[in-house]
Amino acid sequence: MANTKKTAADQMNYAGPRQTIYDLSADFAAGSRGCLQAPASELPPLDLAAIPVLGSYLADADSAPCLPQVSETDIMRHYAHLASMNFGVDSGMYPLGSCTMKYNPRLNEDAARLPGFANLHPYQPVASAQGVLQMMYELQNDLAEIAGFAATCLQPSAGAHGEYAALLAFRAAHLARSGGTTARTKVIIPDTAHGTNPASVAMAGYQTVTVPSNADGLVDLDKLRELLDTEVAAFMLTNPNTLGLFEPQIIEINQAVAAVGAFSYCDGANLNAILGVSRPGDSGFDALHINLHKTFSTPHGGGGPGAGPICVSAELADFLPGPLAAYDEESDLYTLVMPPQSIGRVRSFYGNVSVMARAWTYIRALGGQGLRDAGRQAVLSANYLRVLLQDHYQLAFPGTCMHEFVLTGTPFKQQYGVRTLDVAKRLLDYGFHPPTIYFPLLVDEAMMIEPTETEPLKDLDAFAAALVAIAAEMKTDSALLTDAPYTTPVRRLDEEAAVRNPDLRWRRE
Ligand SMILES: Cc1ncc(COP(=O)(O)O)c(C=O)c1O
Repeated sequence: MANTKKTAADQMNYAGPRQTIYDLSADFAAGSRGCLQAPASELPPLDLAAIPVLGSYLADADSAPCLPQVSETDIMRHYAHLASMNFGVDSGMYPLGSCTMKYNPRLNEDAARLPGFANLHPYQPVASAQGVLQMMYELQNDLAEIAGFAATCLQPSAGAHGEYAALLAFRAAHLARSGGTTARTKVIIPDTAHGTNPASVAMAGYQTVTVPSNADGLVDLDKLRELLDTEVAAFMLTNPNTLGLFEPQIIEINQAVAAVGAFSYCDGANLNAILGVSRPGDSGFDALHINLHKTFSTPHGGGGPGAGPICVSAELADFLPGPLAAYDEESDLYTLVMPPQSIGRVRSFYGNVSVMARAWTYIRALGGQGLRDAGRQAVLSANYLRVLLQDHYQLAFPGTCMHEFVLTGTPFKQQYGVRTLDVAKRLLDYGFHPPTIYFPLLVDEAMMIEPTETEPLKDLDAFAAALVAIAAEMKTDSALLTDAPYTTPVRRLDEEAAVRNPDLRWRRE
């Protein structure tokens, strides 16, 4: 690619003769750099026109990608500027409810980048991948121990993927129980559920039946009992639920589900709140997924990276997706094994190894007591904030919460015409990433706050002070909120258009 526009900086950055990538590859091919010794005649010629997309560009010079011609300095400054406009956990509080955006220790990153993990080849012989298999084997056992189950599969790549895999394992187990046929077609889900739950149910070929919550935001056990019958394959429950409430009747709920021969599934995305304090397996669940990227600390967002291991009871262990990491005492080798009645693979190769390595490191670094402290601190932080805010904002469900709580903006909408979206936008001017808004769906004008255990006290105080100040602004000048934000690189976007038609491409003027 010829560089047509050369700046002074350009010349300084590149003192030697200018070469394009194609010149360089020709050099390599000719062996002149001593890096690649194969004679050029043995290499296939580089036929640019044969490369799909590029070929059509070459054929039509007018539509060729007219990339901006800039120096390395320019490009570095461009990206550094974009990075400085970005907001992340490293820049400030990111209290997105249901997302557990906590600080992720850099130690985990070092572990994930160890060459043995990062450069593992998927087809490498198992004997030469002992380190990664040992890490996976230990992580499987750690997660089973932490959540109170018999076995773990690390393969799924997200919480939703774990839900789906567990539902397939439920079907396989039902078929095995009843000798090859099953009339169980329904999965019951509370109305507080995360959207991935009904989506996974549909993907797995089941029909969703919704059980309403009671006035306290908890599962209505009587209504659940009415819905439970022999057509129900499973009940899926997030505990603590998406309102930040722990189900006090969890034992009775799981007993009622088991009584009709259905499986009880725990959406363990909120495991952060109960780490080292309560184990879902001990309260009668048959399976759960864990969002490793949330509870066990991988920087995530915008679709990944993640891992959603599933932990299951002894009865379901044989149906897990595979392969699983195993240890063979006789040969003293770690291996990969397929569970005897496995539903098969749900992911290529080993799964998302770097996320596993981070989780393994996080668990080892904190230890049992440290994990328990993390969970308790997450709950303490949320309750601290709740108390600071409850005289200024209406709680959707009053009382002690777990690791997150939900406010409702209904009174503000009615009195001042200010919506939760406006409060969220105004928070940007105060330098905070807004909490989750408009979820869970059963709360009108919801604002869901999850501070996590890693927020310092001064930041919790500053965040609460900002929200209190915004509540006061609303009473004197509501337009200040409805026109916000004022200090961000872009003001109000057309949110729907931004999502549906993102304009992210550089275009020729
Ligand atoms: C309660 C709950 N369930 C399921 C999920 C889905 O997890 P993932 O985004 O990893 O698919 C989430 C995600 O945040 C969640 O909060």
